[in-house]
Order: sequence, then C-alpha cells, then structure tokens
Amino acid sequence: MRQADSRPSRRAFLGATGTVTAAGLSAGCQSSSARPDRSDAPAPTPPVSPTGRYQAGITLPQPAQRNVLAVVADLVDAGSVRPLLAELGEAIGKLTAGTDTRLMGLSPGDLTVTIGVGPRLVRKVDPALPGAKDLPRFSREQIAPRARGGDLLIQICADDPLVIPVVAAALLEQAGERIRERWRQSGVRGPNVPVDKGLAAPRNLFGFVDGIVGPHTKAEQQRDLWLAGPAPVAHGTLAVLRRMELDLPRFAKLSVAEQEAVFGRRRASGVPLSGGTIASGPDLGAKTPDGRYLVPADAHARRAHATAVGVGLMLRRSYSIDGPAPGLLFMSFQNDIRTFTSTLTRMDNSDALLDYTTTTASATFLILPGFDKQHPLGSGLFS
Ligand code: HEM
Repeated sequence: MRQADSRPSRRAFLGATGTVTAAGLSAGCQSSSARPDRSDAPAPTPPVSPTGRYQAGITLPQPAQRNVLAVVADLVDAGSVRPLLAELGEAIGKLTAGTDTRLMGLSPGDLTVTIGVGPRLVRKVDPALPGAKDLPRFSREQIAPRARGGDLLIQICADDPLVIPVVAAALLEQAGERIRERWRQSGVRGPNVPVDKGLAAPRNLFGFVDGIVGPHTKAEQQRDLWLAGPAPVAHGTLAVLRRMELDLPRFAKLSVAEQEAVFGRRRASGVPLSGGTIASGPDLGAKTPDGRYLVPADAHARRAHATAVGVGLMLRRSYSIDGPAPGLLFMSFQNDIRTFTSTLTRMDNSDALLDYTTTTASATFLILPGFDKQHPLGSGLFS
C-alpha cells in the first residue's frame, strides 16, 4: 500500500485533462468530431491501509479525498458496542480491500472509513476520559435536537463519489437494528491548491483556500493531534463536526478587499494580509505605517489563531456542502477538546466570519485508536 503523500500526480493529471476538456468543449460547439472523450477512466487512486496505529481518514490520505459522507447514529443498546465495533472494523477491512461482495464490483480506490464514538458511550467507560464531554452551545446555532450529538460517527471518504453510498449502505446493514441513524451529511472538496511540500488544500464556497494552518508535521501531530493516553484512547483523537450554512449572497456583495479582511488572507493566493507566502502564518503584530493591524482585529485568521487563543493546532479537514443549504461541513481533529471550544469561544465574541454563518448540526466524537486483526476496533476501550 502506498503512503498517501507519495501519491502519483493524479491532481496534475486531472488538471491537465480539465484543460483539455474545456478546450474540447468550446470546439465541440462547432464540430462533433472534436467532442471530448469523457469515458476515459480516471487514474486509479492508491489504496489507504485501514489498519495501523491510527485510523485512516484523518492525516491520510493527504490531500484528503474529494468526497465525504458523515453518518451519525445512536446505539439502541449501549451494551452491544464492543461486538458492533469489532464487526464494523472487519467490514471496513473487506470494503477497503475490495473483497466485500456488497461493493458489487466497484473499486474502493482510496476509500477510508473512520469510526468515532460519542460522549455518552465514553462516559459509560469513564467520565474522566477525553471525549466524555458534550460540546457546549455557541452563538448562531439553529440545531434541531436530532442534529446535535450522537453515539457513533461513520466518516466515509473517497475520490469516487459512487463508492460512498454503497459503503454506507453496507456498514449500516452490518450494524442493522443495533443503531438508529440520527443525521448524515455529505460534502465535496474542490481542486487542491498547493500549499507546501506534501500539503495542499481546497477552496471553500467563499472562494478562500481552507486548511492551510494545522498540525502538518509528525512532531506537531504528536503534540496536538493524537492522544498520547490514557491507554484505552492512546492513538485516537477528538473530532468536532459542525455543519455551517454560509450566507453566500451577502458575502458576495462585499468587495474583494472586504472579503479578505474577514479572513485575514488574500482570496486568490491564500497569502496572509501581513505578507509572505500561502504557507506563512499570519504576523499578528504587523501594522500599517498609520498603526492599523494588517490582519484586522476581527479577522478570522487572528481570532482563530492558536497562539492568540492559547491552544494547540487543530487539523481541519472540512468539506463544502450544498444541502440542506450551501455551506461547510467543518471537521476538526485535536487531542484536547479545549482547542476547539476555546477557539470558537474567542471567535464567538468578535470574528467577522461568524456573521455569515449559521450552525445547523454539531457533534464531537472520540475517534478510536487504530486497529488490526489482533486488536479489533474499539477493543481497547470497551470490555
Ligand atoms: C467552527 C468554527 C471554526 C473554527 C473553530 C475555525 C478554526 C480555524 C483555525 C484554527 C484557523 C487557523 C488560523 C490561523 O492560524 O491562521 C482557521 C483558518 C481558516 N478558516 Fe476557519 N474555523 C471555523 C469556521 C470556518 C468557516 C465557517 C470557514 C469558511 C467558510 C473557515 C475558513 C477558514 C479559512 C479560509 C482559514 C484561513 C486559511 C487556513 O488556515 O486554512 N473557517 N480556521
């Protein structure tokens, strides 16, 4: 199996074919002989191993796959969690290997399935464990009771959009009457913009590159992403999912400079308003000659900045959505839930971006440690 960061330059391939397609389309208006060939099979995407120290679908593959479906469910009987998770882990092994007949011959490609358990289940084991606390409420929420929280997260990601509902159906069938679906959300990522060596990030529906800052080195991931302990949760992490509607018409009415002031970065290039390259962090102290901050006081990049908040880095792996309304399925992973809650609390006071958002779903999960044949999914936590 390939490591994701050694993927072939499939993006470059798609970029190249995209250009050819666009040229072919305009030619095709005049002559049917020049019509682009859309039957070309895409370059095969290398598989990502589902087993190992950490679950796949968080740092791997990099960049993240184009499509996501998050299914959130409740357990009917919390006592059945151990066998259920072990079965899901086995099914994930077969689905990602392409040997599960429920795939109906579809190639799983770079499919990953990531499983998390909600605070209610973690509290039953030990209320002191990371992941045992529900998320608090924040401002600008319009969340129906069924779209808040949940016992089980099934996060399915793949470049091939067809694979996703088929895998979801297989896993939900596997779980059967033992779980009750609560809410689900699918999302897509646009083309990746190169950020740094081995790192790329897509644009969101406001047109800005999203996912630049995060724990991208191994050392940062050890420090801020993966749980070091206690033993039952070591090598897991804490996920936050927030579905946010974005007010596109109102944001689109701002000038480009006003939009950039909301984020604190340039829209086209992703470069911070304080200068540098797209990979640079914002210089929060930089000022204009007349003493104004280059990154405005209420800019998202300032309000959410880890040092300004006083927390570690969160790994953001968000997807854009177009249902029930246009927006963002915000997804972050961190080893301390305060990284998320303190950041959003600080944003809540005065982040220019939040004015354009309404949150309509919210949940947190303990992403279980990685698994393999000898250590079934969830077996270290649930007895
Ligand atoms: C739950 C609410 C959110 C949290 C906790 C959050 C968190 C963060 C953090 C920690 C950063 C890095 C700041 C830095 O060091 O420069 C960031 C940057 C950014 N966020 Fe958010 N964010 C949230 C919502 C959103 C939304 C709704 C959008 C888009 C519509 C968005 C788009 C961006 C962009 C474009 C950047 C700058 C580039 C980057 O670092 O990727 N964020 N956010």
